[in-house]
Amino acid sequence: MNSIFVLTGAGISAESGIQTFRGASGLWEGHRVEDVASPAGFQRDPALVFQFYNVRRAKIRAAQPNAAHLALARLEREFPGTVTVVTQNIDDLHERAGSRNVIHMHGEALKARCRDCRNISPCENNLDETNRCPACAVVGRLRPHIVWFGEMPLFMDEIYLALSKADLFISIGTSGQVYPAAGFAEAASQHGIRTIEVNPDSTKISPHFDEHLRGPAGVKVTELVEQLLSSSG
Ligand code: OAD
Repeated sequence: MNSIFVLTGAGISAESGIQTFRGASGLWEGHRVEDVASPAGFQRDPALVFQFYNVRRAKIRAAQPNAAHLALARLEREFPGTVTVVTQNIDDLHERAGSRNVIHMHGEALKARCRDCRNISPCENNLDETNRCPACAVVGRLRPHIVWFGEMPLFMDEIYLALSKADLFISIGTSGQVYPAAGFAEAASQHGIRTIEVNPDSTKISPHFDEHLRGPAGVKVTELVEQLLSSSG
Protein backbone atom coordinates (compact mmCIF):
# COMPACT_ATOMS: atom_id res chain seq x y z
CA MET A 1 0.00 0.00 0.00
CA ASN A 2 1.42 3.38 -1.05
CA SER A 3 -1.21 6.00 -0.65
CA ILE A 4 -3.95 6.68 1.89
CA PHE A 5 -6.71 9.24 1.30
CA VAL A 6 -8.55 10.39 4.44
CA LEU A 7 -11.77 12.42 4.28
CA THR A 8 -12.82 14.07 7.53
CA GLY A 9 -16.04 15.80 8.55
CA ALA A 10 -17.46 17.52 11.60
CA GLY A 11 -17.58 14.25 13.59
CA ILE A 12 -13.78 14.14 13.96
CA SER A 13 -13.87 17.44 15.87
CA ALA A 14 -16.92 16.54 17.99
CA GLU A 15 -14.73 15.14 20.79
CA SER A 16 -12.84 18.46 20.79
CA GLY A 17 -16.12 20.17 21.67
CA ILE A 18 -16.94 21.59 18.23
CA GLN A 19 -20.58 20.97 17.39
CA THR A 20 -21.48 18.98 14.26
CA PHE A 21 -23.89 20.44 11.70
CA ARG A 22 -26.80 18.08 11.44
CA GLY A 23 -28.21 17.88 14.94
CA ALA A 24 -31.80 16.95 15.64
CA SER A 25 -32.86 20.63 15.65
CA GLY A 26 -31.89 21.14 12.00
CA LEU A 27 -30.18 24.35 13.12
CA TRP A 28 -26.49 25.15 13.19
CA GLU A 29 -25.64 26.71 16.57
CA GLY A 30 -29.17 28.13 16.71
CA HIS A 31 -29.20 29.55 13.17
CA ARG A 32 -30.73 28.45 9.90
CA VAL A 33 -27.80 27.35 7.72
CA GLU A 34 -28.97 29.51 4.79
CA ASP A 35 -28.83 32.62 7.02
CA VAL A 36 -25.21 32.18 8.08
CA ALA A 37 -23.64 30.04 5.35
CA SER A 38 -24.74 31.42 2.00
CA PRO A 39 -23.80 34.44 -0.14
CA ALA A 40 -27.45 35.59 0.01
CA GLY A 41 -27.46 35.41 3.82
CA PHE A 42 -24.24 37.46 3.92
CA GLN A 43 -25.70 40.08 1.59
CA ARG A 44 -28.88 40.29 3.68
CA ASP A 45 -27.23 40.60 7.08
CA PRO A 46 -23.42 40.86 7.00
CA ALA A 47 -23.23 41.80 10.71
CA LEU A 48 -24.97 38.55 11.71
CA VAL A 49 -22.66 36.46 9.51
CA PHE A 50 -19.50 38.23 10.72
CA GLN A 51 -20.58 37.74 14.33
CA PHE A 52 -21.48 34.08 13.72
CA TYR A 53 -17.95 33.33 12.41
CA ASN A 54 -16.33 35.48 15.11
CA VAL A 55 -17.91 33.16 17.68
CA ARG A 56 -16.88 30.03 15.67
CA ARG A 57 -13.30 31.36 15.42
CA ALA A 58 -13.08 31.91 19.19
CA LYS A 59 -14.45 28.40 19.86
CA ILE A 60 -11.97 26.84 17.45
CA ARG A 61 -9.05 28.69 19.03
CA ALA A 62 -10.13 27.47 22.47
CA ALA A 63 -10.48 23.83 21.31
CA GLN A 64 -7.69 21.25 21.32
CA PRO A 65 -6.99 18.43 18.83
CA ASN A 66 -8.29 15.07 20.09
CA ALA A 67 -6.93 11.52 19.84
CA ALA A 68 -8.25 11.09 16.28
CA HIS A 69 -6.47 14.20 14.97
CA LEU A 70 -3.28 13.09 16.73
CA ALA A 71 -3.52 9.56 15.31
CA LEU A 72 -3.83 10.90 11.74
CA ALA A 73 -0.79 13.12 12.28
CA ARG A 74 1.12 10.06 13.52
CA LEU A 75 -0.03 8.10 10.45
CA GLU A 76 1.35 10.82 8.16
CA ARG A 77 4.67 10.86 10.06
CA GLU A 78 5.20 7.10 10.27
CA PHE A 79 3.49 5.60 7.21
CA PRO A 80 6.10 4.87 4.51
CA GLY A 81 3.84 6.17 1.69
CA THR A 82 1.63 9.25 1.20
CA VAL A 83 -1.18 10.27 3.54
CA THR A 84 -3.53 13.03 2.31
CA VAL A 85 -6.14 14.47 4.66
CA VAL A 86 -9.00 16.20 2.86
CA THR A 87 -11.20 17.91 5.40
CA GLN A 88 -14.61 19.52 5.14
CA ASN A 89 -13.88 21.20 8.47
CA ILE A 90 -13.00 24.85 8.79
CA ASP A 91 -11.07 24.37 12.05
CA ASP A 92 -7.27 23.99 12.22
CA LEU A 93 -7.19 20.97 14.54
CA HIS A 94 -5.50 18.67 11.97
CA GLU A 95 -2.65 21.17 11.58
CA ARG A 96 -2.35 21.73 15.33
CA ALA A 97 -2.17 17.96 15.83
CA GLY A 98 0.79 17.89 13.42
CA SER A 99 -0.72 16.89 10.04
CA ARG A 100 1.03 18.67 7.17
CA ASN A 101 -0.66 17.33 4.03
CA VAL A 102 -4.12 18.79 4.70
CA ILE A 103 -6.54 20.15 2.10
CA HIS A 104 -9.41 22.33 3.34
CA MET A 105 -12.07 21.90 0.68
CA HIS A 106 -14.62 24.11 2.51
CA GLY A 107 -12.20 26.87 3.50
CA GLU A 108 -10.72 27.90 6.84
CA ALA A 109 -12.24 29.87 9.71
CA LEU A 110 -8.86 31.40 10.61
CA LYS A 111 -8.47 33.07 7.21
CA ALA A 112 -10.19 35.97 5.47
CA ARG A 113 -10.55 36.60 1.75
CA CYS A 114 -10.74 39.95 -0.01
CA ARG A 115 -13.77 40.22 -2.30
CA ASP A 116 -11.86 42.76 -4.43
CA CYS A 117 -8.33 41.43 -4.93
CA ARG A 118 -9.04 37.79 -3.81
CA ASN A 119 -6.02 37.80 -1.47
CA ILE A 120 -6.28 35.32 1.40
CA SER A 121 -4.90 36.51 4.74
CA PRO A 122 -4.67 35.12 8.28
CA CYS A 123 -7.62 36.05 10.51
CA GLU A 124 -7.15 35.06 14.12
CA ASN A 125 -9.49 37.55 15.74
CA ASN A 126 -12.76 39.28 14.97
CA LEU A 127 -13.65 40.23 11.42
CA ASP A 128 -16.20 42.88 10.47
CA GLU A 129 -16.89 45.59 7.91
CA THR A 130 -14.13 47.85 9.25
CA ASN A 131 -11.21 45.52 8.43
CA ARG A 132 -8.67 46.47 5.77
CA CYS A 133 -7.29 43.99 3.23
CA PRO A 134 -3.53 43.66 3.92
CA ALA A 135 -2.86 43.25 0.17
CA CYS A 136 -4.94 45.94 -1.59
CA ALA A 137 -5.68 48.11 1.50
CA VAL A 138 -9.39 48.43 0.68
CA VAL A 139 -11.62 48.61 3.78
CA GLY A 140 -14.81 46.58 4.17
CA ARG A 141 -14.24 43.95 1.51
CA LEU A 142 -12.88 41.09 3.64
CA ARG A 143 -15.16 38.08 4.22
CA PRO A 144 -14.65 34.76 5.99
CA HIS A 145 -12.64 32.35 3.80
CA ILE A 146 -15.40 29.75 3.95
CA VAL A 147 -17.14 27.91 1.13
CA TRP A 148 -20.84 28.71 1.53
CA PHE A 149 -23.81 26.92 0.01
CA GLY A 150 -23.92 27.60 -3.70
CA GLU A 151 -20.14 28.21 -3.90
CA MET A 152 -17.50 25.93 -5.41
CA PRO A 153 -15.45 23.78 -3.02
CA LEU A 154 -11.71 24.43 -3.19
CA PHE A 155 -8.82 22.34 -4.61
CA MET A 156 -11.02 19.84 -6.45
CA ASP A 157 -8.32 19.01 -9.05
CA GLU A 158 -5.77 18.18 -6.33
CA ILE A 159 -8.38 16.17 -4.44
CA TYR A 160 -9.43 13.99 -7.40
CA LEU A 161 -5.77 13.45 -8.31
CA ALA A 162 -4.99 12.25 -4.76
CA LEU A 163 -8.12 10.05 -4.77
CA SER A 164 -7.17 8.47 -8.10
CA LYS A 165 -3.75 7.49 -6.69
CA ALA A 166 -5.08 6.09 -3.39
CA ASP A 167 -5.06 2.42 -2.34
CA LEU A 168 -7.15 3.08 0.76
CA PHE A 169 -9.99 5.56 1.36
CA ILE A 170 -10.95 6.34 4.97
CA SER A 171 -13.96 8.52 5.78
CA ILE A 172 -14.21 9.83 9.34
CA GLY A 173 -17.15 11.62 10.95
CA THR A 174 -19.10 12.79 7.94
CA SER A 175 -22.80 12.29 7.31
CA GLY A 176 -22.31 12.11 3.53
CA GLN A 177 -25.01 14.64 2.76
CA VAL A 178 -23.00 17.40 1.13
CA TYR A 179 -21.55 16.92 -2.37
CA PRO A 180 -18.99 16.66 -3.84
CA ALA A 181 -17.39 15.11 -0.71
CA ALA A 182 -20.36 12.78 -0.32
CA GLY A 183 -19.48 11.25 -3.71
CA PHE A 184 -15.86 10.35 -2.90
CA ALA A 185 -16.69 6.98 -1.29
CA GLU A 186 -18.66 5.77 -4.30
CA ALA A 187 -15.94 7.02 -6.68
CA ALA A 188 -13.26 5.24 -4.62
CA SER A 189 -15.20 1.99 -4.50
CA GLN A 190 -15.82 2.11 -8.28
CA HIS A 191 -12.04 2.43 -8.75
CA GLY A 192 -11.52 -0.70 -6.66
CA ILE A 193 -10.01 1.22 -3.75
CA ARG A 194 -10.53 -0.34 -0.31
CA THR A 195 -12.92 1.84 1.71
CA ILE A 196 -13.38 2.23 5.48
CA GLU A 197 -16.02 4.34 7.24
CA VAL A 198 -15.51 5.54 10.83
CA ASN A 199 -18.76 6.81 12.35
CA PRO A 200 -20.83 5.85 15.40
CA ASP A 201 -23.93 5.75 13.16
CA SER A 202 -24.70 4.46 9.71
CA THR A 203 -24.96 7.17 7.05
CA LYS A 204 -26.47 7.67 3.58
CA ILE A 205 -23.11 6.66 2.08
CA SER A 206 -22.46 3.61 4.32
CA PRO A 207 -23.36 1.14 1.49
CA HIS A 208 -20.26 2.28 -0.46
CA PHE A 209 -17.80 1.11 2.21
CA ASP A 210 -16.11 -2.29 2.54
CA GLU A 211 -15.67 -1.89 6.31
CA HIS A 212 -17.47 0.07 9.01
CA LEU A 213 -15.83 1.03 12.29
CA ARG A 214 -18.76 2.00 14.48
CA GLY A 215 -17.73 4.20 17.39
CA PRO A 216 -16.24 7.56 18.25
CA ALA A 217 -13.33 8.73 16.12
CA GLY A 218 -11.04 9.15 19.15
CA VAL A 219 -11.12 5.41 19.79
CA LYS A 220 -11.65 3.97 16.30
CA VAL A 221 -9.11 6.10 14.42
CA THR A 222 -6.46 5.44 17.06
CA GLU A 223 -7.01 1.67 16.71
CA LEU A 224 -7.08 1.84 12.90
CA VAL A 225 -3.82 3.83 12.71
CA GLU A 226 -2.14 1.35 15.04
CA GLN A 227 -3.23 -1.52 12.74
CA LEU A 228 -2.21 0.26 9.52
CA LEU A 229 1.25 1.10 10.89
CA SER A 230 1.87 -2.39 12.25
CA SER A 231 0.89 -3.99 8.91
CA SER A 232 2.96 -1.48 6.88
CA GLY A 233 6.15 -1.87 8.91
P1 OAD B 1 -22.48 16.49 9.78
O1 OAD B 1 -22.83 17.28 10.98
O2 OAD B 1 -23.46 16.44 8.66
O3 OAD B 1 -22.17 15.00 10.19
C1 OAD B 1 -21.34 14.68 11.28
C2 OAD B 1 -21.17 13.19 11.34
O4 OAD B 1 -20.28 12.91 12.40
C3 OAD B 1 -22.45 12.39 11.62
O5 OAD B 1 -22.57 11.34 10.67
C4 OAD B 1 -22.23 11.82 13.03
O6 OAD B 1 -22.79 10.51 13.18
C5 OAD B 1 -20.71 11.76 13.08
N1 OAD B 1 -20.14 11.83 14.44
C6 OAD B 1 -20.64 12.43 15.55
N2 OAD B 1 -19.82 12.28 16.59
C7 OAD B 1 -18.75 11.56 16.14
C8 OAD B 1 -17.55 11.06 16.75
N3 OAD B 1 -17.25 11.29 18.03
N4 OAD B 1 -16.70 10.36 15.95
C9 OAD B 1 -16.96 10.12 14.65
N5 OAD B 1 -18.08 10.57 14.04
C10 OAD B 1 -18.97 11.27 14.77
O7 OAD B 1 -21.05 17.05 9.27
P2 OAD B 1 -20.33 16.92 7.86
O8 OAD B 1 -20.64 15.62 7.21
O9 OAD B 1 -18.91 17.26 8.08
O10 OAD B 1 -20.20 22.54 4.83
O11 OAD B 1 -21.01 18.08 7.06
C11 OAD B 1 -20.55 18.36 5.76
C12 OAD B 1 -20.66 19.82 5.44
O12 OAD B 1 -21.98 20.30 5.70
C13 OAD B 1 -19.82 20.71 6.31
O13 OAD B 1 -18.48 20.80 5.89
C14 OAD B 1 -20.48 22.04 6.14
C15 OAD B 1 -21.91 21.62 6.27
O14 OAD B 1 -22.82 22.39 5.66
C16 OAD B 1 -19.97 23.85 4.65
O15 OAD B 1 -19.99 24.65 5.56
C17 OAD B 1 -19.70 24.21 3.24
